[in-house]
Amino acid sequence: MSRFESKTVLVTGAAGALGATVAKRLASDGVANLVLADLNADALTPLATELGDKGVTVTTENLDVTDGDGFDALVVRAVGRFGTVDALVNSAGIVSPNARIHNLSTADWERSFAVNSTGTFHGIRAVARALRKRSPVSIVNIASVSGLTAWAYAAPYCASKSAVIHLTRVAALEYAKEGIRVNAVCPGTFPSTLHEGLPSEALASIEAKHPLGFGTPDDIAGAVLYLASDESRWVTGHSLAIDGGYSLP
Ligand SMILES: NC(=O)c1ccc[n+]([C@@H]2O[C@H](COP(=O)([O-])OP(=O)(O)OC[C@H]3O[C@@H](n4cnc5c(N)ncnc54)[C@H](O)[C@@H]3O)[C@@H](O)[C@H]2O)c1
Repeated sequence: MSRFESKTVLVTGAAGALGATVAKRLASDGVANLVLADLNADALTPLATELGDKGVTVTTENLDVTDGDGFDALVVRAVGRFGTVDALVNSAGIVSPNARIHNLSTADWERSFAVNSTGTFHGIRAVARALRKRSPVSIVNIASVSGLTAWAYAAPYCASKSAVIHLTRVAALEYAKEGIRVNAVCPGTFPSTLHEGLPSEALASIEAKHPLGFGTPDDIAGAVLYLASDESRWVTGHSLAIDGGYSLP
């Protein structure tokens, strides 16, 4: 029996590099139902068609993770349709402007927190409201090594991802007795649209800091699926660095 047979998994940021890869890997692993959410559900149509052709029941949803009521409603709809949500992968995220603190606006700071930290909070809260004490759920938050190590020119991104790591620990503690596990993955860099516009020299210097070089979304997805599945049933509150050795020095 596959790890995800009969399971329903909700993925935010599912039109992005990592979210789409996680969805594809879940489909290969036999998931029954996928709820794919992103800012613009139209962007999810090709992926939904591809996975639907493989026998997965896929629904696509417009979701701005900064909208807490919208997140609550989405989880309620998924539970109404599929009976439960077995796992939530909070992959929606944005980077902050490449700037030092004195050059950042308050809006730059707040936008990173709204999407990366508050968006993750909304996902955990929606699941806790709908499924606490009702059925087991595994929540996997996508943080970043930037939440574990300091990066110059990226204060809002680093701080908002660090908040995700600590929120993961608090939520894990609060809901352990109520059937909800909460973990995070802290990826190193895998080039994606997040790095659009970065000069090639900047990318090369980032890659040089990864002893194993840049990763790919597939290098991250295996850890996400492990944490989303029952294989990790005795793991909660953990933040797992999958970073090609970035955080070693
Ligand atoms: N790419 C990397 O090197 C890297 C490294 C560490 C962590 N991460 C994290 O991994 C996650 C996925 O990144 P990615 O590289 O796949 O980026 P991506 O830009 O390809 O995907 C991010 C997705 O999130 C969606 N999104 C953005 N704001 C949203 C909102 N308010 N509501 C709903 N959806 C929203 C975007 O539309 C996009 O589809 C992010 O949380 C990112 O911070 C990425």
